Amino acid sequence: MSTVIYFSGTGNSYHIAKQIAEHQNAQLISITDFDGKSINDDRVGFVFPIYCGELPRIVVEFLDRVVVRAKYIWAIATSGGTVGTAFSSLDKSLRYNEMRLSFAEMMLMPDNSIIMSPRPGDVKSALENEPILVQEVIRLIDEECQNEYVVESFSGKTSKIQWASLKSVIRINNKKINHKTCSDCGICIEICPMNNIVRVGEKIKIGPNCTNCFACLHWCPTHSIKAGFLKVTSASRYTHPSVMAKELFRKN
Ligand SMILES: Cc1cc2nc3c(=O)[nH]c(=O)nc-3n(C[C@H](O)[C@H](O)[C@H](O)COP(=O)(O)O)c2cc1C
Ligand code: SF4
Ligand code: SF4
Repeated sequence: MSTVIYFSGTGNSYHIAKQIAEHQNAQLISITDFDGKSINDDRVGFVFPIYCGELPRIVVEFLDRVVVRAKYIWAIATSGGTVGTAFSSLDKSLRYNEMRLSFAEMMLMPDNSIIMSPRPGDVKSALENEPILVQEVIRLIDEECQNEYVVESFSGKTSKIQWASLKSVIRINNKKINHKTCSDCGICIEICPMNNIVRVGEKIKIGPNCTNCFACLHWCPTHSIKAGFLKVTSASRYTHPSVMAKELFRKN
């Protein structure tokens, strides 16, 4: 039997994980909702986005608390074009439990980082290529293909430098809601994977426990959430066109 574990802010990773799980008749586990301590199966796969050339913090925390055991472990990273050191970090985590990453591929998908907003043509071509890439990956996983994962690293500190500049220059940790335009729909509260957006009295507030997935910025229908100097506009707003917000809502 197979298990597919995913994390997704704007739907790219979820959409790919769902297709692979359907093909494999696998159980599909959301990192956001999983509260167990271990996952044991014949085949286990991970699907997640790349943030600043690394694993999202929420994925790192999942790997710290959950023991994953399988005969064959694979990973797909969705990203705007780079993979950085994410696969080596995942492999390193697995090795603590004497497991290894057998197969890992990056899948080019629309970039939701807002700073590097892709041109509409790039979004269109990435989405058109998605079914072809998914079929190819499914074939390779079915064959239990092994490969050497890619490590793109100019220096081991690249990711830390990128995060530091996003935090100090763009101030992405300073997330704010414009209460004048907010329609009080509650989508941001339900979609935040960290349960970091809460109602306090009449107002909705964003706390400090953020994995910087930008789900709240992109899914907000009134573009009312800012991350420092970053603000989603009609042009830069991106969510996977085949995924509905409620599919990514937290279950608990
Ligand atoms: C904070 C942040 C940092 C990102 N950093 C990178 C990056 O270093 N390289 C890259 O190619 N894409 C980067 N991206 C783009 C995402 O990896 C990409 O859009 C991914 O497919 C989003 O997946 P999701 O829709 O499942 O959330 C970043 C996105 C965010 C929000
Ligand atoms: S998603 Fe946007 S409009 Fe809806 S409650 Fe949150 S900030 Fe307000
Ligand atoms: S506050 Fe927004 S960016 Fe931060 S984890 Fe929640 S949804 Fe993601």
